[in-house]
Amino acid sequence: MLTAEQNELLTRTNAGTPMGELMRRYWIPITVGNRLKAGGAPLQVKILGESLVAYRSPNGAVGLMGEFCPHRNASLALARNEDCGLRCLYHAWLIAPDGRVLETPPEPPEVNLSDKFRHTAYPSREAGGIVWAYMGPEEAMPEFPEWIFKPYDEANIYVTNAFQECNWLQGVEGDLDAQHGPYLHYTDDEAHTQDGLQNRANEYIYDQRPKVAAAKKPWGLQTVFRYLHKDGKAATYWIHPFVMPFFTFFESNLLDTEGALMHAWVPATDESHWVWSVLFCEEAMTDDYIEFVDRTRGYGMTDPENNWRVTAFTGKGVGFEQDREAMASGRTFSGIEGILQQDLAIQYSMGPISDRTREHLTSGDIAIVQLRKYLLDALAAFDKGGPAPGTEPGSQDSVYFEALTSTPDHSMRELANR
Ligand code: FES
Ligand SMILES: [Fe+2]
Repeated sequence: MLTAEQNELLTRTNAGTPMGELMRRYWIPITVGNRLKAGGAPLQVKILGESLVAYRSPNGAVGLMGEFCPHRNASLALARNEDCGLRCLYHAWLIAPDGRVLETPPEPPEVNLSDKFRHTAYPSREAGGIVWAYMGPEEAMPEFPEWIFKPYDEANIYVTNAFQECNWLQGVEGDLDAQHGPYLHYTDDEAHTQDGLQNRANEYIYDQRPKVAAAKKPWGLQTVFRYLHKDGKAATYWIHPFVMPFFTFFESNLLDTEGALMHAWVPATDESHWVWSVLFCEEAMTDDYIEFVDRTRGYGMTDPENNWRVTAFTGKGVGFEQDREAMASGRTFSGIEGILQQDLAIQYSMGPISDRTREHLTSGDIAIVQLRKYLLDALAAFDKGGPAPGTEPGSQDSVYFEALTSTPDHSMRELANR
């Protein structure tokens, strides 16, 4: 249980809030690269409560700037996308990717605003099919998180994101919730358990009392979930690192491939966020595999015409197309199709910002308790002038090796076995 003040501290991310300022010290996934056409329409996107436009210049470079023109606030989503920046439709001001106003055509030539002020504009990069930006102070910009992509070719990365209307922390906490798998995600659907997934799914679903342990790391929290097998002796240990400020990673073979699955829960506003699911595979992904992943995890079920909201959320409100017959027959526990949909339905059902003063947590929620403590400690240290965890020079390799390449070490297993 948190106090109302702690809940506010953790969940509010607009500029000027403690968590908002801390999050701005990291490179942030903004949008999927292929949503931006070279020289095409700028895309409205909200991140950390800021109204922004992402765009791809005619030369192919990506950019991100404040949505509203610095002259009279016309939306730059309508702007012309030119070689040197975005040109507002209203009076043709030209705004450069770094926020300088390069041209003000209705004014006499001696009027030069380029040194007078800067429009909001953020350093942007494209990697792994994702457009990233840094929204913090220039002098504190950390290294770009290359480690995320380290061993993978772009062709072996499958990127999806969806818009969800609830606070970001509900998403992250869902990933550190050790006990829900055998319940919320239970299914006897063959499609979910076929081939190589069968054994893992059985192990995972069989143990109805999973154990969990968490350990503080410089970059976040390492957690391990333990699922006992049917024989009651052998166990599967899954690692689920939480990496600051909103990333989680899953063990490579979760989806029957070598690689990793990354989630990022990026605040759009305080009451909405972007749900990123990024699959990294060491082998080339076939269309069949992507179809399988989309179907079983629900990645493909978003509506591009409706700001990439999850399709099941757009039509039928809180029911999420829940199939009560499937529940009655035992085919699924939830009646909801798709693992991601099941998670999102629960996160969304908690309300726009979950009231954590009402909770009654148990020892099975230890990773969630540790996550909140980690974040509150990080905010307190940051408030005293300390660095954002994991942004110190050279810290990124340790994130990669500790979070992603290690199987749970002995001490973590011991913790999880208790
Ligand atoms: S409002 Fe954009 S140029 Fe005037
Ligand atoms: Fe889940």
